[in-house]
Amino acid sequence: MGSLTNLGKVGVLVALTLSFSASRVCFSTVANYTQNTAIGLCSQAILQTLKVGTNGTIAYVTTTTTPQSTVRSLLPTFCNRRVAYPYLEPYLAVVGAGTESPLAAMLSTPTVRANFVRALVAFVKSYPNCVGIFIDFSGLSTSQAYNNLFRWIIKGISPGKMILGLSMYARAFNVSRVSQFGAQGTAISTVASYCDALLFSSQFGIQTNSAGESISSSSSMAYVFNSFAAIDIKLNFARSNSLGGVALFSLNTAGANAELLRYVTSVIAPTPPAGYTYPPASRPTCGVPITFPQPGGTTTQPGGVTGGTTRAGGEEKRLLLEEPQLLLEVLEEQRPLLGEPQLLLEEPQLLQEVLEEQRLLQE
Ligand SMILES: *[C@@H]1O[C@H](CO)[C@@H](O)[C@H](O)[C@H]1NC(C)=O
Ligand SMILES: *[C@@H]1O[C@H](CO)[C@@H](O)[C@H](O)[C@H]1NC(C)=O
Ligand SMILES: *[C@@H]1O[C@H](CO)[C@@H](O)[C@H](O)[C@H]1NC(C)=O
Repeated sequence: MGSLTNLGKVGVLVALTLSFSASRVCFSTVANYTQNTAIGLCSQAILQTLKVGTNGTIAYVTTTTTPQSTVRSLLPTFCNRRVAYPYLEPYLAVVGAGTESPLAAMLSTPTVRANFVRALVAFVKSYPNCVGIFIDFSGLSTSQAYNNLFRWIIKGISPGKMILGLSMYARAFNVSRVSQFGAQGTAISTVASYCDALLFSSQFGIQTNSAGESISSSSSMAYVFNSFAAIDIKLNFARSNSLGGVALFSLNTAGANAELLRYVTSVIAPTPPAGYTYPPASRPTCGVPITFPQPGGTTTQPGGVTGGTTRAGGEEKRLLLEEPQLLLEVLEEQRPLLGEPQLLLEEPQLLQEVLEEQRLLQE
């Protein structure tokens, strides 16, 4: 038996936006993105696909049905969505836990770390439509963790540099009708798609929106998810605290129309980047009418973007960082590095090494 708890999967990321706009940072796992249009509603998209391999080599997040060869063939379909949506900033993420031995060895051994940083920079450069690297390590021991969120908050990081995490998936429970969190039920192990929950809630209604999470329950099943009403609570929180935007996990569970992402975008970033329109929705299949963008909008997909170039017009680069102290150093570094992959990092020491590595690679 499990307790119906709030999802809270993504937590809070700390970000810096040089030019304020309400970010929609979309987390994603490997899939064929060739025809994905929901990604066009994101400001940044982060593919959680890389790992630290032995001796500082690059490894991949694989499953039995998605071996390394498949990951490698699908990876470009993610980065290449920037051709269709030039305002999108796709990042490749390195994920892992501090308890994994290759990662632990990389963090603790300077030569292995140097190997890894060199391999990582070379790797990301080989996908020029991806703009940078996101480091996403969890479960670090105290000695491994040079940073954590609360340190930055205590250090006085400004709210505009923070991004609120939202779950774009649902959890389903076998449970007799419930209306409150804390009820007992059997959790169905797989994460349910957001669309499943939306469809279910359109039939059975929403029993509670508590602290920004919703329960929709029938006599035999319940979904816990972020209904639009629940999301309003969180978006109001983000807005009233002047946060920089939100992060959504994940595009893979969003559904073809990404109803939640579409709703969030309609609230916090209703105006698309100049010169573009947001991708229109296809036929609604999740039980709710889709009103964003307004019907009649057409997808602008200029074919003119040449792969691998940075965005036009000397537009300011944007970083998502967790180390304000390093910010100035990074900004300094970014100037000569214009055209280099951007960095989205949670690991200050690694960041410095990556920057050093980039400098070496440029010489
Ligand atoms: C680890 O990498 C270094 C540098 O690339 C190489 O010299 C060394 O032989 C590697 N060690 C193993 C065990 O593969
Ligand atoms: C991805 O899907 C497209 C069709 O949408 C297909 O043409 C392409 O071969 C697929 N790519 C891979 C690597 O499976
Ligand atoms: C939930 O109930 C369905 C049928 O109502 C059943 O197929 C499924 O195995 C149950 N799941 C769990 C985790 O008990």
